Amino acid sequence: MSVTILGIESSCDDTSAAVIRDGILLSNVIASQSVHEEYGGVVPELASRAHQQNIVPVVDAAINRAGITKNDLSAIAFTRGPGLLGSLLVGTSFAKGLSLGLRIPIIDVNHLHGHVLSHFVRRKPDDEVPGFPFLCLLISGGNSQIILVRSPKEMEILGQTIDDAAGEAFDKCAKVMGLPYPGGPHIDRLAAEGNPKKFHFSKPRIPELDYSFSGLKTSFLYTLRDNVKLNPDFIKENKADLAASLQHTIIEILLEKLDMAVRRTGVSTVAIGGGVSANSGVRQAVAKYCADNGLKAFIPERAFTTDNAAMVAMAGHFKYLDKDFCRYDQAPFARVTV
Ligand code: KG4
Repeated sequence: MSVTILGIESSCDDTSAAVIRDGILLSNVIASQSVHEEYGGVVPELASRAHQQNIVPVVDAAINRAGITKNDLSAIAFTRGPGLLGSLLVGTSFAKGLSLGLRIPIIDVNHLHGHVLSHFVRRKPDDEVPGFPFLCLLISGGNSQIILVRSPKEMEILGQTIDDAAGEAFDKCAKVMGLPYPGGPHIDRLAAEGNPKKFHFSKPRIPELDYSFSGLKTSFLYTLRDNVKLNPDFIKENKADLAASLQHTIIEILLEKLDMAVRRTGVSTVAIGGGVSANSGVRQAVAKYCADNGLKAFIPERAFTTDNAAMVAMAGHFKYLDKDFCRYDQAPFARVTV
């Protein structure tokens, strides 16, 4: 009997639904919400409302594009947290209602597990997936973690940020430069044209495998402030070099601890995930680091770096095999780590 999972993701500002059959992706539909652009960040109440508007058509499209009917589904996996509570409630309630109607189980998924397990989503049966154990560098707008993944359900956080996440460092520095939100992709684009060695920003001295990005943010801010005093056009004239130098420093910080974790654990496989893993410089640097050290690298397709339901369906697939279902009295949660 094949296992067909509908995944639903509504943790932040993307409404997504996907269908996975026996680990092979049949569809992945994402409705992103443009309503937040003019506010310079996600507005929770607007996000919840947009999810309400999108959820039925998005799920319908995922089922149609997969070429199945809803009666073919084995279970419904949904993101239970972490995320915005009002957004999570939409996906959670919808999953519960649909599962009662179809008389199939629901499976709750930790969004962060989803990012880690996105590497197991295959488009065709012979696509390669990571072998256990492996290290996953999970870098997004809300998290920066190094996770030792022993199995789909055994994940240990070896290190994490003690203040800002890597994505916040990109976004906050981009904001100081006058770039739109979220700034990460803009920094990425500008960095391609700039000199990564032109400016030097302070790097944290944090023990063990934890990260810190707040010092870098302050150092970036002071560099801009001091130089703008001397030349009001400083930012405009140095946009690309500032972006390249910032990105270079963030990558150095990320790679230093990743290398430490590789040496400590002796793993031979490294994966990256989360929104910041879409960054061209990060992708190149991790691929090069792995090639230089004889490690296998798993760099996700860009479609799987941001929030998507394919990863939720994949995490649901693993839990389905363990018959690890969710009770109907379970509510979403806003905060948690892996
Ligand atoms: O995982 P994600 O979609 O959701 C949150 O955790 O919020 O990550 C969003 C983060 C934002 O900080 C965004 O600026 C960053 O990922 N991001 C990037 C790039 N694409 C998205 N940062 C750097 N370069 C990119 N190309």
